[in-house]
Amino acid sequence: MAEQFRISCLDDDSVKVFNSFWAEHGLCFLVETEEQTVLFDVGTTGTVVGHNAQLLKKDLSEVTHIVLSHAHYDHTGSLDWALDQTRNPVLIADTDLFVERVSRREGATKQTGVPVSRERVEARAQLVLTEDMFQIGEGMYLTGRIPRENQYEVANPKMLIRQGDDFSADSFLDDRSLILEAGEGIVVLLGCCHAGLVNTMNYVRKHFSAPIKAIIGGTHLLEASPEQMTWTIQELKNKFQPERMYFNHCTGFNALVTFRNAFGERLQTMPAGEVLEF
Ligand SMILES: [Fe+2]
Ligand SMILES: [Fe+2]
Repeated sequence: MAEQFRISCLDDDSVKVFNSFWAEHGLCFLVETEEQTVLFDVGTTGTVVGHNAQLLKKDLSEVTHIVLSHAHYDHTGSLDWALDQTRNPVLIADTDLFVERVSRREGATKQTGVPVSRERVEARAQLVLTEDMFQIGEGMYLTGRIPRENQYEVANPKMLIRQGDDFSADSFLDDRSLILEAGEGIVVLLGCCHAGLVNTMNYVRKHFSAPIKAIIGGTHLLEASPEQMTWTIQELKNKFQPERMYFNHCTGFNALVTFRNAFGERLQTMPAGEVLEF
């Protein structure tokens, strides 16, 4: 029987209206199947993620896997807290997970990487660090590293990664997405999508031929130019034809409006507290 997935948003920059969920700059999804309970990213603070999990009646001690889309604090900030809520889960991420990251804006340097040491993680989780595609469970995969294949989806030069004694521009090779084989189609869960939405979908298409049922998560189009938006929409329409999109987190208001105008009701958001089933 085809796998069924319940996806709950436990952390996002916005909240579902007429509810008591909390928002913060961060992202965390809970993905539940018959066999597995997977946290895809853990959000920024345990205060917000814990509050939202409680409202949705989710018991995080049942989490079997933690999968991290990339190292940034808004996806890993509550990792210490999350490991205290869980019972020795398998933790899957890129090999560069623990490399130091900073941002430099207007002369100020800010730590932006994982705020907990590898030792503290290894004491409470079974760590799997890989650059390759990784199967988490029946019909559930973390992508491998995503090739950069176009001129639009390029890294922000203010975001840096430790290289020896200094820092260099971070090309976010650690940025990965989750792929779910849901019945006759594919659901793609994005973290921040620093690798680029089109690059990520090209990767998905290379490995999976089923129709795209949904793309969910952050698309990092906050500062995208009108040309990039037009190109992105053309690529989505011509190559991938997603049935639905549920964008949130770092997508940005302008991109959301542009997508809505292009796709109508097929474009939705995925605020904290929202639950989808496939
Ligand atoms: Fe990020
Ligand atoms: Fe992010």
